[in-house]
Amino acid sequence: MKRVAILISGGGSNMEALVNDMQGDHPARPVLVLTNNPDAGGLAKAAAHGIPTACVNHRDFPDRPAFESALNEVLQQAAPDIICLAGFMRILTPEFIARWQGKMLNIHPSILPLFRGLRTHQRALDEGMAVHGCTVHEVTGELDGGPILGQAVIPVRDGDTPDDLAARLLPMEHRLYPAALRRFAVGDRTKVVVGASTHPTPHP
Ligand code: GAR
Repeated sequence: MKRVAILISGGGSNMEALVNDMQGDHPARPVLVLTNNPDAGGLAKAAAHGIPTACVNHRDFPDRPAFESALNEVLQQAAPDIICLAGFMRILTPEFIARWQGKMLNIHPSILPLFRGLRTHQRALDEGMAVHGCTVHEVTGELDGGPILGQAVIPVRDGDTPDDLAARLLPMEHRLYPAALRRFAVGDRTKVVVGASTHPTPHP
């Protein structure tokens, strides 16, 4: 059984989707929910599921390496096989990433490699995209880079605001991330596709 640590900074809805899926025949179990934000709403959700939680507040540290060494200490105690970043909003150093490389996944709210970084919904609208989406990928030293493990797409509708896109995308994130983790936990890197057919359809 693979041990999974989940890193969050906010509401933790993706964390909860992962946790809800890690039952029964699932090849992994959650062992820790860790946050940098003492006010993260996801902490209470994790505790309600009976999962150990920890907070390492980045504001308590003089610099990124000091923050990350405290993160590493907590993580090492939990001895995860896999780390899932789920709305974890701190940039990680190459050193931290190298320590966990090959074991760390992230979900990003865009169709990567489009729109790395922040404000992805606004940027998709600004570019006049007809579709928007989210990506689960392995974490490497390149921000929002790394091999893609799966993607979900939604249509962009006339008049959509960034909040509309975020609200319609989140339920797709909750389908994509657990499906990608299930495969990754057994070493299957077949890409997960949600919201678009993987089979070619004949022309009408
Ligand atoms: C999700 O939309 C996730 O894709 C995004 O933050 C949200 C977290 O929501 N992640 C990033 O922007 C990472 N750069 P949640 O806390 O409810 O899962």
